[in-house]
Amino acid sequence: MVTILGFSHMSWLIVFCATLHVAFPKEKGMNGTSVENFDCVVRSYTFKNPTMNCTWNAGKNVPPDTQYFMYLAYHNRARDNECPHYISNTLGRHIGCYFPDVIASPYRVNITVNGSSIESPIQSYVDDFRIYDKEQFRPPQNITVDYRSPLYYKVQWEPPPNSRKVGSECFEFQIKDERRNTAMTVQEKTYNFPKPAKYILRIRAVGHITCPISKKMNGEWSEPIEFGTDPDRFPTLPLVLVALGTIVIIVLLILICNRNHIWEKLTDPVPGPKVMWQHEKNEEKWVAPVPIAGESVTVVEEMTADSPKV
Ligand SMILES: *[C@@H]1O[C@H](CO)[C@@H](O)[C@H](O)[C@H]1NC(C)=O
Ligand SMILES: *[C@@H]1O[C@H](CO)[C@@H](O)[C@H](O)[C@H]1NC(C)=O
Ligand SMILES: *[C@@H]1O[C@H](CO)[C@@H](O)[C@H](O)[C@H]1NC(C)=O
Ligand SMILES: *[C@@H]1O[C@H](CO)[C@@H](O)[C@H](O)[C@H]1NC(C)=O
Ligand SMILES: *[C@@H]1O[C@H](CO)[C@@H](O)[C@H](O)[C@H]1NC(C)=O
Repeated sequence: MVTILGFSHMSWLIVFCATLHVAFPKEKGMNGTSVENFDCVVRSYTFKNPTMNCTWNAGKNVPPDTQYFMYLAYHNRARDNECPHYISNTLGRHIGCYFPDVIASPYRVNITVNGSSIESPIQSYVDDFRIYDKEQFRPPQNITVDYRSPLYYKVQWEPPPNSRKVGSECFEFQIKDERRNTAMTVQEKTYNFPKPAKYILRIRAVGHITCPISKKMNGEWSEPIEFGTDPDRFPTLPLVLVALGTIVIIVLLILICNRNHIWEKLTDPVPGPKVMWQHEKNEEKWVAPVPIAGESVTVVEEMTADSPKV
């Protein structure tokens, strides 16, 4: 009895396992074997088709011998395009793909990344997107600064090339002022910055919301554009002139004073009774005719030597 029960249980188990096997065919692969963090970046150029770089990480549960393969399917085209240039890691496993030439139609493309391993099946990764939605804009082009206006600097630029070949009306531009740490968004391809001031700007393009164009805020910033000059905080030239003038006047005054012996008069000590006498003595000498300039100096020396005793 027990054996029969056991046997029927066993057969049920076998049937159950068989059904499981059908419901989850081996080809589907284990969880954790499909690629992760899959993403692509599209770039446009003026004279050639856009390029696309895709990258991914291997699944966490993959056997060491796992290899991945990527396929791109355009709308209404029977053929899958296998990746033309794989990017491999040091172990030779494909971890990315470079498409030197993609077509950015308004339709979505299908992406498949499948894989193979001798040890176990690998789950496929599927995705679909519009090529242009993955676009990263390059910096605005031909940025120029016009200094001619007395009131402002006129900065102009052109939008970057883009995969759908839309016009500049499909762009907005962010301008970052790196000196003042401010940012703004403008619709036009030009902006006037008031004079006089110094500016260091960077500009990037962002797709306009109404257009078939990437709206990601990941456009590349232009190289810094530096122009203008700061208004003089200190008017240095007038200051120098004033300083020079003052020095010249002081020197002249000293010369005049020396010549007329005004110094001695000005620096005469306040007369006390005893000083008065000294003073008179000095004056006697002083008044006496002095033939050589050297002697008058002696007098001055005498006086200054006397003064501290007072
Ligand atoms: C595999 O992942 C799916 C979706 O996350 C989940 O529903 C399923 O239970 C997982 N299977 C196993 C065997 O872990
Ligand atoms: C795309 O990958 C190729 C090949 O590795 C590389 O030369 C190129 O610079 C990459 N482009 C971008 C935009 O990452
Ligand atoms: C993408 O795959 C889906 C589902 O398999 C299919 O319906 C659709 O037509 C495919 N699109 C392209 C562009 O191949
Ligand atoms: C991956 O998919 C492509 C096209 O769908 C197919 O030709 C190829 O054999 C598949 N590779 C593996 C390893 O499953
Ligand atoms: C940028 O300037 C170059 C040289 O003046 C010119 O050939 C090119 O057409 C300009 N590009 C744009 C987008 O205006």
